[in-house]
Amino acid sequence: MWVRRTVVLMVGTVLVVACGPQGDEPEAGEPPATPAVRVLPEPATPTTGSLEEAIEARRSIRDLEPRALTEAQVGQLLWAAQGITDDAGRRAAPSAGATYPLEVYAVTADGVGRYVPSAHALEVHLPDDRRAVLADTSFDQEWIADAALLVVITTVEARTEQRYGDRAPAYVLIEVGHAAQNVLLQATALGLASTPVAAFDADALASALDLPDEHVPVYLLPVGHPST
Ligand SMILES: Cc1cc2nc3c(=O)[nH]c(=O)nc-3n(C[C@H](O)[C@H](O)[C@H](O)COP(=O)(O)O)c2cc1C
Repeated sequence: MWVRRTVVLMVGTVLVVACGPQGDEPEAGEPPATPAVRVLPEPATPTTGSLEEAIEARRSIRDLEPRALTEAQVGQLLWAAQGITDDAGRRAAPSAGATYPLEVYAVTADGVGRYVPSAHALEVHLPDDRRAVLADTSFDQEWIADAALLVVITTVEARTEQRYGDRAPAYVLIEVGHAAQNVLLQATALGLASTPVAAFDADALASALDLPDEHVPVYLLPVGHPST
């Protein structure tokens, strides 16, 4: 028997909604379980410091303390990448024709989540820590395993290709750059360290994160507390 179960927990300011099956496997023809979704704290606008200060202070920093980020920091960084910023549903980073070809994943000690902009939430994708594997798939850049959060930007080119044809590959990569720069500047504004990483085996990384075939990883942004 397939019974949908919904659990809502308030943990501090964090609302946790878990929806899933109760009991055994679903019967044939029944829909799969809804993945667990964790709503993130509301993003803060503005944070302290000016844009100019963040641009000047941003540096690629690979010496990281293996200390976790707060849920608010994780939420703020994901919002900077792809958060909804107006009532029409437009996002923090520009998108060619508002086709929104990016899917963003957050990799932490707690597992892997897919960012859901419309809910400002993380959908649980994998329950275990994949950071060390991602360091390996990034041609053994072992410092990556120390980052509290790895923001993985993936692309679904078909969304943009439908409208822009041959120009889509370039447009999509430009958009990755917009989103990544937002994350790097947001990390700097939060006093965190980050470095853009493109040196990785994309197939191995996609396999390590068990990504859907159409989500192609392009950029990896490790973020953490700088070692002092
Ligand atoms: C497309 C791209 C790919 C990069 N890939 C890596 C990488 O795989 N590993 C790494 O440690 N840094 C990587 N970087 C960071 C650069 O090394 C860094 O930006 C550069 O040294 C300039 O330093 P700054 O970021 O502090 O200004 C990459 C930067 C870009 C733009």
